[in-house]
Amino acid sequence: MTRIFSGVKPTGHLTLGNYLGAVRRWVAVDQHAAEALFCVVDLHALTVDHDPARVRRLSRQAASLLLAAGLDPDVCTVFVQSQVDEHARLAYVLECVATDGEMRRMIQYKEKSARERARGGSVRLSLLTYPVLMAADILAYGADEVPVGDDQAQHVELTRDLAVRFNQRYGHTFVVPKAVHPQVGARVMSLQDPGSKMGKSDGDAAAGIVYLLDEPEVVRKKVMRAVTDSGHEVEYDRDAKPGVANLLDILAACTGREPAALAEDYHSYGVLKKDTAEAVVEELRPLRVRHAELCADPGYVDGVLRAGAERARGLARPRVDAAYRAIGLLPAG
Ligand code: TRP
Repeated sequence: MTRIFSGVKPTGHLTLGNYLGAVRRWVAVDQHAAEALFCVVDLHALTVDHDPARVRRLSRQAASLLLAAGLDPDVCTVFVQSQVDEHARLAYVLECVATDGEMRRMIQYKEKSARERARGGSVRLSLLTYPVLMAADILAYGADEVPVGDDQAQHVELTRDLAVRFNQRYGHTFVVPKAVHPQVGARVMSLQDPGSKMGKSDGDAAAGIVYLLDEPEVVRKKVMRAVTDSGHEVEYDRDAKPGVANLLDILAACTGREPAALAEDYHSYGVLKKDTAEAVVEELRPLRVRHAELCADPGYVDGVLRAGAERARGLARPRVDAAYRAIGLLPAG
């Protein structure tokens, strides 16, 4: 059976982009079609300036939201990365297989480190080595499929390279995984800047981002204030009308219809925005209700995560032990 691994980084509140672009598919398809592991990758949240209490809060919230969205702990494994030692154990071994040149070529590293330096800040070493930890996340479980957005394609490519190199040098140990990208239709862009992805970063960008836990009134306000394009024809044209196309994509994702077909039903931006806002509010309603229930029962979420970590450990341990042996470390006995 196919094994799937994916992760969410608790660096911000989960967004409509995370949900429509990834999580919803994990719930509807992936957890049933494969043996699936979904991980809150909290170690990755420490690669940039962070507030410890906030990371802890966001990790718990991300886990609760994944469960609220419908990941079923009886069907798949939901857990927190730092609760399973094998990730860090394997990351070190893979650092002995990766090269510094390879790390410095990663686009995300180049962008993030340049931004940090421009601000006069320093760059954490873990930001450079982060893709190796991500490779460890995937390889520890022998995952063959990694559902991620395009921005992670280069990291999965690196993961493949490391797996192949390790296997060639030290004997067959790792499954060589591949990235699987959800269909383009689910790619949600910022409501304020439809040229960039609806990411988790807050601050200035927050007006363009719908968070899963935004109150319905806030969702409505953000959608109604979405930037649209000049003219007033509703057309599905991602290049000429990226703002309108983004609204149509969101409405399509919430209603199960085709964006181009939806465009024909609308003759004003205002009505399109209003219907999109309502569709989003309705799409998120059950998730919010379920999340509130889970918040009222933190012992349940902790229990799920504890059991998830235990199951994950059981899967990862033998493979990481095998990697330790293969690379020349003395078995602990
Ligand atoms: N790097 C991913 C991101 O920023 C998160 C991630 C970490 C991940 N480890 C992973 C995704 C392993 C898939 C598989 O979104």
